This record gives sequence, C-alpha cells and structure tokens, in this order.
Amino acid sequence: MCFSQVVKSLFLVFLLGGTLTRVRCLSFNYTLFDTIYPESGSGQLIMSKYSHIEFGAIQVTPDVTGAIPNYSGRVFYNNTFRLWDKTKGVTANFSTTFVLNISPKTSPGGEGLSFILAADTTPPQNSDGQWLGIVNASTNGSSQANVVAVEFDTRKSYQEDLDDNHVGLDVNTIYSEPQVPLTNLGINLSSSSNITATVQYDGKNMTLRVSSKDVFSWPLNLSEHLPEEVYVGFSASTGNDTELNCIWSWEFNGSDIGDSGFGGGGDNDLKLLWLWITAPAAVVLVLSGIVFCLYWRRKQALYAEDPYPGLEDQIRGSSTAPQKFLLKELRKATGNFNPKNKLGKGGFGTVYKGLLANKEVAVKRISKNSSQGKQEFIAEVTTIGSLYHKNLVRLIGWCYERRELLLVYEFMPNGSLDKFIFGNEKLGMEEPTLTWEKRHIIIHGVAEALDYLHNGCENRVLHRDIKASNIMLDSEYNAKLGDFGLARTIQQRGKTHHSTIEMAGTPGYMAPETFHISRATVETDVYSFGVLVLEVLCGRKPGNQIEENNYNSSIVYWLWELHRNGRILDAVDSRLNMEFDEERMSCMLILALLCCHPNPHQRPSMKTVLQVLTGEAPPPLVPTEIPAFVWPAKPPSFKGDSGNSLSESKRSSFTELTGR
Ligand SMILES: *[C@@H]1O[C@H](CO)[C@@H](O)[C@H](O)[C@H]1NC(C)=O
Ligand SMILES: *[C@@H]1O[C@H](CO)[C@@H](O)[C@H](O)[C@H]1NC(C)=O
Ligand SMILES: *[C@@H]1O[C@H](CO)[C@@H](O)[C@H](O)[C@H]1NC(C)=O
Ligand SMILES: *[C@@H]1O[C@H](CO)[C@@H](O)[C@H](O)[C@H]1NC(C)=O
Ligand SMILES: *[C@@H]1O[C@H](CO)[C@@H](O)[C@H](O)[C@H]1NC(C)=O
Ligand SMILES: *[C@@H]1O[C@H](CO)[C@@H](O)[C@H](O)[C@H]1NC(C)=O
Ligand SMILES: *[C@@H]1O[C@H](CO)[C@@H](O)[C@H](O)[C@H]1NC(C)=O
Ligand SMILES: *[C@@H]1O[C@H](CO)[C@@H](O)[C@H](O)[C@H]1NC(C)=O
Ligand SMILES: *[C@@H]1O[C@H](CO)[C@@H](O)[C@H](O)[C@H]1NC(C)=O
Ligand SMILES: *[C@@H]1O[C@H](CO)[C@@H](O)[C@H](O)[C@H]1NC(C)=O
Ligand SMILES: *[C@@H]1O[C@H](CO)[C@@H](O)[C@H](O)[C@H]1NC(C)=O
Ligand SMILES: *[C@@H]1O[C@H](CO)[C@@H](O)[C@H](O)[C@H]1NC(C)=O
Repeated sequence: MCFSQVVKSLFLVFLLGGTLTRVRCLSFNYTLFDTIYPESGSGQLIMSKYSHIEFGAIQVTPDVTGAIPNYSGRVFYNNTFRLWDKTKGVTANFSTTFVLNISPKTSPGGEGLSFILAADTTPPQNSDGQWLGIVNASTNGSSQANVVAVEFDTRKSYQEDLDDNHVGLDVNTIYSEPQVPLTNLGINLSSSSNITATVQYDGKNMTLRVSSKDVFSWPLNLSEHLPEEVYVGFSASTGNDTELNCIWSWEFNGSDIGDSGFGGGGDNDLKLLWLWITAPAAVVLVLSGIVFCLYWRRKQALYAEDPYPGLEDQIRGSSTAPQKFLLKELRKATGNFNPKNKLGKGGFGTVYKGLLANKEVAVKRISKNSSQGKQEFIAEVTTIGSLYHKNLVRLIGWCYERRELLLVYEFMPNGSLDKFIFGNEKLGMEEPTLTWEKRHIIIHGVAEALDYLHNGCENRVLHRDIKASNIMLDSEYNAKLGDFGLARTIQQRGKTHHSTIEMAGTPGYMAPETFHISRATVETDVYSFGVLVLEVLCGRKPGNQIEENNYNSSIVYWLWELHRNGRILDAVDSRLNMEFDEERMSCMLILALLCCHPNPHQRPSMKTVLQVLTGEAPPPLVPTEIPAFVWPAKPPSFKGDSGNSLSESKRSSFTELTGR
C-alpha cells in the first residue's frame, strides 16, 4: 500500500515535469452504493439520522419500511469542496451527474429531492414538507442559510410553486429562480423511473440537464452566496404525503483551485524556480522513501500496525474468546473477498461466503476506518463469542490484522428471515412462503434465544436490535438470532451503572419509551420481539415510528385496531391461505400485542412468553382499547386498569445496562 503510493507520487513528479502544482481536486465516482466507499476518490458519506443505504441506493428519506411523514434528510460526501478563493479571486468549476429515482408511497407523493451545496451537513430543524431539507421557515430567504440547491420538486406546496413536476434553482431559499416544468419535456419525476441529471458550474452559469435534455443555464456567482469550502450532496423531504427519494449513482468532478495561501500571486518564474529546486529533491526523497517502504513492509509482516491498541487485550480479556484466525486463511477461504462470494451487507460490513477446512462459513468484513465498526466488533466477539445456544448464530472466530476486522460465523444456508416474509420487491424475488408450522418454530426459536440472553446466561445480555433481517435460518428453517453488533452485557450480579448510552436500534422496532429513556432495557428487547412476531404472522413490514407521535402508523397500532373490532385474525398473512390453528394463532397475536404494550411494565418477560408459546401458561388477555402511551409509565403497583392477567413474579424495574 505504502509502496504503490510512492510509485504513484514518483510517477506524478515525472509526469508533471515543469508544471507541478498540488493536486487537490474533489473527484469521485459512486457507481452503486453497495458499499460505503466510492469506486474512485476516497472518503465516505455523511448521512443525517435515518438517511441510509438500502437496496444499493442512497435513501435520503428513509421510507423503505413504511410511510414516514414529515421527514427531511441530507446526505453528503465526507470531504469539502473548495469552491472559491478570496485572495486569489478564483472560482472552481464542477460537473456532477447522478441517477435519481423518486417512488411515491402515497398518491400523490411528496415532496422532493435536491442536489445541494451547503456549509452545514445537518438538515435545518423543521425543514420537512415544502422545505425539501434545504431551509426552514426562519432561514428561508436569509443569507445565513448558506445553501444553493437544484430542486426536483414533486409537489406544488405553496403559491409560487409552479406545479408538481418541476426543477428549479434555489439560492438560500425554496423560492426557485428559474423554475422549469418538466412535463412538456416528457419527464415525470414521480414515475419511479431512473432519471439521470447533470449539474454543471463554470464559474458563471449553473446549468442543468435532465434525461439528456437541456433544462436551464442560469447566471450565478456562487462565491457571493457560499463560503469558500462547501459540502456537496443531496437533501430531500416528505410531508403529509411521502415518497422514496433515492440516488442510485453519483459522480462528481470539481476543478482544483489550490489551497488558500499557496502560490499566492501568479508569479510563474518564481514557481518554476521553486520547481527546479524541488523536483530533483522530490525524486531523491521518493527514492529513499521506496527503500524505507520496502524495509517497513517487511517489518509489517512481522508486526502488524495497530490502529486500535488494546483491542487484542480486550478480546483476550474476555474469558472464552473464540478462535483467532490469520488474515491469510480468511483471504483464501473467501477467494480474496471475491464479490461473487458476497452474501450481503449489514451493520458495518460486508458478509462473504467462505470455505474453511471444507466447512462452509460466513465471513463478515467490517468496513475499514469505521470507529463504530470497532465497537461492534468487540461487542460481537465478547458477547456471542462466549454464548452457546441452538438458537444463536455461532461465532467461530475472529481476525484482526492490518486494520482488517473480521468475524467468522457458521454458514446459514437459508439466509435471513426478512426475505421470506417480505420478499424483495425491488429485485422481484419471491421466496417460498413459510408455512404456519415453520413460522411457529421460528418464533419459538427466537423466544428461546432471547430468554437465554435475558435470563439464562451468566451475564444478562441485551440484543438491542431484534428484527427480521437479524434472524438467520439454517437448512431446517430453525431460527438463529445473529448480529450482536449493538448488544451489550449487563453484570447480573454486582452494581448497575447508571449511565446513559446512545440510542440504538431500528425504527419500527423501537419501543415508544426509548425516546424518553434513551437506553435499552429488557423491556425494549421484548417490544422488538413483539413487533417481529407480528411481522412473521402478518407478513407485513413494521411500519415506522421514528418518533413516538408516529406510534399510530405502526403495525402495533393497526393490530390493536383489528383486535378492538374483534377481527384480529384478519391480520394474518393471506399467503397462509387460512391454513393454521385459529386458536393458537390468535393467542400468539395477542401475546405479541402484549409484548408491544406501550407501558413497559405491562410487557411479559421472555420466560412468560415461552410459557405461553408452549401452552404451559394460559393465553394472555389484553385490553381491547388501545392503551395510551403515557410517560413516565405507571409502575405495576399502581396499575388500576390492567388487562394483563399474567401473574408475573417479581419484575425488576428498569434494568439498566453498563455504558461503555
Ligand atoms: C464512473 O464509473 C462508471 C462505471 O465504471 C463509468 O462508466 C463512468 O465513466 C465513470 N465516470 C467518471 C467521471 O469517471
Ligand atoms: C470524514 O472524514 C474525516 C477525516 O477525513 C473523519 O475524521 C471522519 O470520521 C469522517 N466522517 C465520516 C462520517 O465518515
Ligand atoms: C405533518 O406536518 C403537518 C404540518 O406541517 C401536520 O399538519 C401533520 O399533522 C403532520 N403529520 C404527521 C403525521 O405528523
Ligand atoms: C472553468 O471553466 C472555464 C470555461 O469552461 C475556464 O475558462 C476556467 O479556467 C475554468 N476554471 C478553473 C478553475 O478550472
Ligand atoms: C430553523 O433551523 C435552525 C437551524 O437548525 C433552527 O435554529 C431554527 O430554530 C429553525 N427554525 C424553525 C422555525 O424551526
Ligand atoms: C421563501 O422566501 C422567498 C424569498 O426568498 C419568498 O419569496 C417565499 O415566499 C418564501 N416561501 C415561503 C413558503 O415562505
Ligand atoms: C407521473 O407518474 C405517476 C406515476 O406513474 C402518475 O401518477 C402521474 O400522473 C404522472 N404525472 C404526470 C404529470 O404525467
Ligand atoms: C435504476 O438503476 C439501478 C442501478 O443501475 C437498477 O438496479 C434499477 O433496477 C433501476 N430501476 C429502474 C426502475 O429502472
Ligand atoms: C450564461 O448564461 C447566459 C444567459 O443564460 C448566457 O447569455 C451566457 O452566454 C452564458 N455564459 C456562459 C459562459 O455559458
Ligand atoms: C463573484 O463575486 C465575487 C465576490 O462578490 C467577486 O469578487 C467576483 O468578481 C464575482 N465573479 C464574477 C464572475 O462576477
Ligand atoms: C397535513 O394534514 C393535516 C390533516 O391531516 C392538515 O391539517 C395539514 O394542513 C396538512 N398539511 C399540509 C402541509 O398539507
Ligand atoms: C474532471 O474535469 C477536468 C477538467 O475540469 C478534466 O480534465 C478531467 O478529465 C475530469 N475528470 C473526469 C474523471 O471526468
């Protein structure tokens, strides 16, 4: 790695000969968003909360799992672009081409997407709806906003807005000038089709082409409106009506205007002199660099560099760490991480299929340079590494070498549960429908795994991210809980620490109180389990509730409505063709509802859940009226109107977990 860099710089020195200047342009090319790294260029993306990558595209607003009204998001390339230079009086040029796709989730959809240049990476507060994540009511029209956008608007949301299918140029405002309708160019933004757009700036005019048609070229002096260094990226929003705002690919090429202060005036003679002195010096430097690098590389093989000092000790410190592998062995096992062996991506890395000693394994390669990746790595190795249960994915081993963090798991031939219950609409793949028996076995398996984590092992473990995509299926369709990247261990005995940890989990599976207590508890795990059971039985996505007031759009609320009307069985996945035991089915649906009770104190423990599933305990009763979410929740001793007939033995109040 070091070697190739040296060769590259040597090459540059010769190539540039008499015109050596510092190369510092912003240029990158994402051909797809399967990984967080672009094919060329370096750096990652900065995403606002809940914007994410899914189905190989950037989802600027995250409505993948269900409608999320009133949301705004922003996604940027990590490094800034040097747009102009005050002292030199120059402005950079850029050209960017991206493929966008807007799929309405409601009819009509809303609100739109934009390419933006901005000083600030976080979307302004309340920039949802008509504001497109560009400005909000107080920053609209103010030079403080520091943002220039090319909008792709799918709603006529205020009076000056042209129509529901136009583009426009926005300078510190959402009032576009110019505004150009697209319908008469034969372009429909809301048609769920891929649309290629190119935005160019030549220092004087901003030009937009959409689907190979010139749309506008408008005079604009960007240096009058933006700071010298800006972030480039996308913003989008949804309102009452929602849509998926996706970016499939994105290339950006910006010219280099040099660093501020470098070279100051345009004194070419001086520059040349500087060059003739420095170029030979550079060659000498580079040559000695090569020698050093060869030596260093050798040494490398013996002592791997260690960006995470202490990581090994931390893992070895845990009593029963699994086997440690050599990077060489895992490279060989996966055909040098051949993309053909890719099983999927999740959490903070990519998973490859591999062959170790003639045994199939899954190797997870954690993205480099991700500090969260390191935490996840330690969490996985130290939590599941020491746990054995038939319903937990086995961690076979790990590897940490040359900045590579790798985890080796048993291979799960049937992949993850989500594709069986939701299918993959995007790819149009249809997995065989799981029968009622299989679904029952899966739910039972997950319940056993969770009970083991909560009550069965030495230290209590909170999984914190129970969801369909984290449940793996073996060849017999036995469920195995995996992905312990967010899991945390709590000392069962000894003191509990009272520290707050970062909020974690997946929208739709997070209990309503999470937004108040900002930490995981046994009860929040039970809630996610309840949502999972509903999904498995109803074949429906969890809906979203990224904020507590969106609770009402969730699967839980939907089911409670049906239960209230005495029609709970209407919720069952129609693909089952009514082939199931009605009594057991409604018992399980109601049990799941109880797990999702808004009041955490009313939720059953996993022990009780298991008893109900096996028929040892009677089916629970839940109120037909939807209980309101009240915070703080009433502890059990005050419960007056409880419909919960389960006589739980003593329930610990909030079980807090140790922060890191
Ligand atoms: C980006 O990558 C794609 C696919 O490799 C290629 O077709 C395209 O020309 C590249 N764009 C630039 C600007 O290099
Ligand atoms: C962005 O890049 C900087 C330095 O290049 C790095 O410290 C930071 O972690 C990166 N942020 C993200 C979100 O990747
Ligand atoms: C979205 O915001 C609008 C006003 O901006 C409000 O009337 C509406 O109730 C909100 N919708 C939801 C579901 O929160
Ligand atoms: C930007 O482009 C214009 C014309 O296309 C050119 O004259 C100018 O030198 C370019 N500026 C930079 C900084 O590359
Ligand atoms: C607009 O956004 C700014 C920055 O996020 C925030 O300080 C301000 O309160 C917001 N204004 C409104 C009306 O939400
Ligand atoms: C936003 O500000 C512009 C001025 O830049 C104004 O014309 C427009 O009416 C404002 N839009 C809204 C919705 O307030
Ligand atoms: C654009 O396409 C959507 C979905 O196909 C359709 O509902 C809408 O009427 C179209 N709009 C125009 C202006 O053609
Ligand atoms: C859009 O482009 C992506 C990536 O090239 C492709 O996977 C997807 O199928 C395309 N979608 C449509 C509707 O053409
Ligand atoms: C910029 O746009 C204006 C008006 O649209 C046009 O007259 C001018 O020629 C353009 N300048 C360049 C450099 O393209
Ligand atoms: C753009 O604005 C800057 C700062 O106001 C000014 O120095 C520069 O001359 C302007 N550029 C053009 C092309 O008008
Ligand atoms: C959103 O819907 C609510 C009623 O559900 C309505 O009061 C509000 O005006 C709508 N907001 C917008 C921006 O359309
Ligand atoms: C980027 O733009 C420069 C000119 O501004 C051009 O010389 C270079 O070839 C472009 N790079 C790519 C990858 O398109």
